[in-house]
Amino acid sequence: MSGKMQIAIIGTGNVGSALGHRLAVSGCEVWFGTRSEKDLATLVDDIARAGGTAHVVPPEVAAANAQMLFLAVPDTAALPVATSLGSLVDKILVDCTNPVRWSGGPIWSPPIEGSVAQALASVLPGCRVVKAFNGFGAEFHLDPKLPGEVGVSVFMAGDDPEAKADVARVAEQAGFSPIDAGLLRNAGLLENAAVLWIHLAITGKRGRNIALQLVQR
Ligand SMILES: NC(=O)c1ccc[n+]([C@@H]2O[C@H](COP(=O)([O-])OP(=O)(O)OC[C@H]3O[C@@H](n4cnc5c(N)ncnc54)[C@H](OP(=O)(O)O)[C@@H]3O)[C@@H](O)[C@H]2O)c1
Repeated sequence: MSGKMQIAIIGTGNVGSALGHRLAVSGCEVWFGTRSEKDLATLVDDIARAGGTAHVVPPEVAAANAQMLFLAVPDTAALPVATSLGSLVDKILVDCTNPVRWSGGPIWSPPIEGSVAQALASVLPGCRVVKAFNGFGAEFHLDPKLPGEVGVSVFMAGDDPEAKADVARVAEQAGFSPIDAGLLRNAGLLENAAVLWIHLAITGKRGRNIALQLVQR
């Protein structure tokens, strides 16, 4: 392993592959943790051509090699996957998932703990859970730039200030605009913001090239 920040991406679908690509080319060393036999050679080659470093390994190996993990799996798989990764004590787990069902549009469907992130924290003692990177489409995970070269807002909720600061550093280095959105109890707000994004993009037919951005005047 190099002196680079070691990142695990758990789940290599739309979000995981896009975010892993972005973080790898921004200077992190990325460990894609995949449970499938999926061929990720093209993704890894693209990253290498862009000057980044990435590996494809089983999820538990990715988790063991990283200090910061991004969970990009279906919300229904979040708990079983996260609890199968081995010890996550002292590691940072960034929960990118959204608990959404569909009935003529998106409906927020959180677990009893209030949000997926809080449910994760309840079963992962010692793990520093941060809710983030869930509020825009995967196109923005790959390329966070908005007009004017501004990075898309990444709202972060979590109880550990150092963990949020570390996530903010990684996000900023990759061109995102991180924003501290308070304690983990606010994770449900972030999941609802994602539901609003989905409503506007899909039900409202504005398309996926939109973002909920914090602006100040
Ligand atoms: N799509 C978006 O634009 C978007 C934006 C923001 C947030 N999100 C949220 O991010 C999460 C991932 O979304 P996505 O669009 O990337 O999903 P996706 O394309 O379906 O990918 C999910 C990945 O999770 C992994 N996985 C692990 N256990 C699984 C299981 N039991 N069933 C299915 N997949 C499993 C698989 O990767 P391996 O085969 O490599 O294990 C799979 O490719 C979701 O919670 C979603 O709500 C999505």
